[in-house]
Amino acid sequence: NDLRPARSPRGIPILGHAPQIPDTNPVAYFGELSKQFPEGIFSVDIAGQENVFVFDPDLITEVCDETRFGKPIFPPLSHVRDYAGAGLFTAADDEEVWGMAHRILMPAFSQRAMKGYFGQMLEIAQNLVGKWERRQGQPVRITDDYTRLTLDTIALSGFGYRFDSFSKEELHPFLYALLEALIESMRRSQELPMMTTQRKDDANQYHQNIQLMQELVESVIKERRQGRGSGEDDLLGLMLQATDPETGKLLDDDNVRDQVLTFLIAGHETTSGLLSFATYSLMRNPHVLAQAYAEVDRMLPGDTVPDYDTIMKLDVIPRILEETLRLWAPIPQIMKAPLADTVIGGQYELTQGTKTNLLMGPLHTHPKAWDRPDEFDIDRWLPENRAQHHPHAYKPFGNGRRACIGRQFALTEARLALALVLQKFKFSDTTDYKMDVREALTRKPGDFELVVRTRKEHE
Ligand code: HEM
Repeated sequence: NDLRPARSPRGIPILGHAPQIPDTNPVAYFGELSKQFPEGIFSVDIAGQENVFVFDPDLITEVCDETRFGKPIFPPLSHVRDYAGAGLFTAADDEEVWGMAHRILMPAFSQRAMKGYFGQMLEIAQNLVGKWERRQGQPVRITDDYTRLTLDTIALSGFGYRFDSFSKEELHPFLYALLEALIESMRRSQELPMMTTQRKDDANQYHQNIQLMQELVESVIKERRQGRGSGEDDLLGLMLQATDPETGKLLDDDNVRDQVLTFLIAGHETTSGLLSFATYSLMRNPHVLAQAYAEVDRMLPGDTVPDYDTIMKLDVIPRILEETLRLWAPIPQIMKAPLADTVIGGQYELTQGTKTNLLMGPLHTHPKAWDRPDEFDIDRWLPENRAQHHPHAYKPFGNGRRACIGRQFALTEARLALALVLQKFKFSDTTDYKMDVREALTRKPGDFELVVRTRKEHE
């Protein structure tokens, strides 16, 4: 019998491996650790809990089999439920509200629906361009401005709510509250509950942050109920009025609140990271940047205002986004768990409910699936090459029925934003930025600044 548990790094009794796991960027640490386990799987004891990490594409294929594995709600997601409740992202597979909300909201994410959001996406993207035009020749905080863009876009097109982030110097207080809450959720998932109880000030701050976010959500909903804000068929309109085709029920008020907060979070963090990493990757790969400029100049000459159909015809920019999601997946890790005791790879035993983490970085660069894995090569995404890909070596949007509902939304928004930015601007990296990843459930480049100049003046 050649069954065996996954190998582990050396740990400490009782505390397990917890003391070795850094407070900041734990997923980057697990990525480093993965190099010691060429078999593509390892196990770590975190505060008394077994955590298995998987990144071999063939093992991932098994973990992505939805008849055998589901999405469990363990820490940190069970902590995120403190504010996102039973919203789509943090609901358990078997919670009735997950299925209801999924069925009610799916139509809002169809390709046809994207066309409906386009005008609002464009309006916000033009706000970003306007800001950068006023900042000619000055360093701009790239990631912060993409965060303004994506937050304002989901709020306007999903809920008819205006953050007006580009008219303010400071980021919206919602963003600080969210960042702190996410960091606290991660921290709680890496320590014993008794340690959490001792950090009383942090707990106070956590509750204040949650309150701030929930008050904002309540004002978003109140505006709609009072007849302000547009769009009966936007996300909020569907949440408030549509009945679930299967149960005939409406979402209750608490769940609507949870969903709005979920979409404000899930709908902006990741897309902002994607755009930031894409811009970074273009700075590091001038030959790809040149291709992107050529495409924009061909498809959107001069000051042509992009329309939906043109954005959908782009080819280079979408491939830049796909390659960015491979090398810099904004969600660097997702969790699955076996529905019953099982064996993967013919030898690794996993008992029912074992936390089984998919590590995106090591998976997306696994030599079994990718040639020259660390090279930013957008030609991997040409149709003829795409057909050769390992079917389970690329999971930036997750897997199966719990995969990202907002994928088309994110890609449409990101294509448009990048196209518009490249139509207007040149960047220079005057400080020679070194990638400094910051994880808070998602990951983004920290303190990423570039000098922007309009192309017209420059050429
Ligand atoms: C779920 C990635 C943009 C809403 C997910 C998951 C991933 C992901 C990996 C699965 C999480 C898990 O298995 O635990 C991304 C990336 C994005 C992006 C990389 C941008 C580049 C968006 C946008 C929205 C959104 C724009 C909303 C407008 C959601 C929701 C879920 C989800 C609601 C939970 C789905 C469910 O379980 O029913 N996303 N996402 N995401 N995403 Fe996204």
